[in-house]
Amino acid sequence: MDIKTFGVVGAGQMGNGIAQVAAMSGLEVIMSDIKTEFIQRGLENIKKNLRRSVDKAKMTDQEMDAVLKRIKTTVDIKEMSAADFVIEAATEHESIKFQIFKDLDQICAHPVILATNTSSIPIGRIAAQTKRPEKIIGMHFMNPVPVMKLVEVIRGLATSDDTFKTTRDLVVKFGKTPAQANDYPGFIVNRILMPMINEAVFCLYHGVGTREDIDTVMTLGANHPMGPLALADLIGLDTCLAIMDTLSHGFKDSKYRPCPLLRKYVEAGRLGRKTGQGFYKYRATDLS
Ligand code: CAA
Repeated sequence: MDIKTFGVVGAGQMGNGIAQVAAMSGLEVIMSDIKTEFIQRGLENIKKNLRRSVDKAKMTDQEMDAVLKRIKTTVDIKEMSAADFVIEAATEHESIKFQIFKDLDQICAHPVILATNTSSIPIGRIAAQTKRPEKIIGMHFMNPVPVMKLVEVIRGLATSDDTFKTTRDLVVKFGKTPAQANDYPGFIVNRILMPMINEAVFCLYHGVGTREDIDTVMTLGANHPMGPLALADLIGLDTCLAIMDTLSHGFKDSKYRPCPLLRKYVEAGRLGRKTGQGFYKYRATDLS
């Protein structure tokens, strides 16, 4: 199927980044969310990113306008009927994602592939909500989406070769590199990354080091671009906890036990950059 119009359900931190890279690749984009204010926030973030590229002379004003013109927005998911490929990038709650897939299965024509940006929910469980399990696939972008080069492409048990190939080709069109993963809890990236972040939280919890020392150890001692606690704040502590819970329930192995301090922060609403406080505090100008 020739993909001209790309649908993104969810205008949050991942959704707006995905909409931006899709529009930059030349596709028409429909970005939906449940509230106008979420759409506005998503669009503002895209504009801010594009403006930064113009200011750095990586893009002209005309190119920026053309990209923005390709992004249509809506609060009505039914408008996804005009899309040739749809990715869901809503919050990481199983019930929300399941409902979106049930809706999309009704709204979109049968040949349309329905991808999910889930970081932890099994693709097979999402596919089971639809009558097109062969067209369901994981398309897992990394945060911040415009910068990070990887997209993990996850095949469910029923995902067809055609669905996989179309999705992989789309990743390449977006200027990203695909890596294939099979459908096991956490896939590859989060199976490796999250236990490291969780262990950093345990180091803080046990008083092995301060948050600054823990992050310095990993930036200067292991050459990571940012420390694990700062990275957790960027990803969102609620997302980190949801992924650890998925690993823990999925493998029933105590090595994936989420650190109690991580849960405590989430329960207190300290979710990281998006709420202005996680392991660190952020000023309004840092938030994006
Ligand atoms: N959105 C868009 N662009 C951004 C950005 C954002 N939020 N943050 C930084 N950038 C851009 C900057 O504009 C800059 O662009 P140019 O090269 O064009 O100038 C570039 O990224 C580098 O930014 P900075 O110089 O400001 O800062 P930096 O060099 O420290 O890089 C970083 C910032 C890219 C976030 C870097 O620290 C990094 O790579 N951190 C690790 C990120 C990571 O591991 N992400 C994966 C998380 S796991 C995940 O997402 C999966 C999951 O399911 C949880």
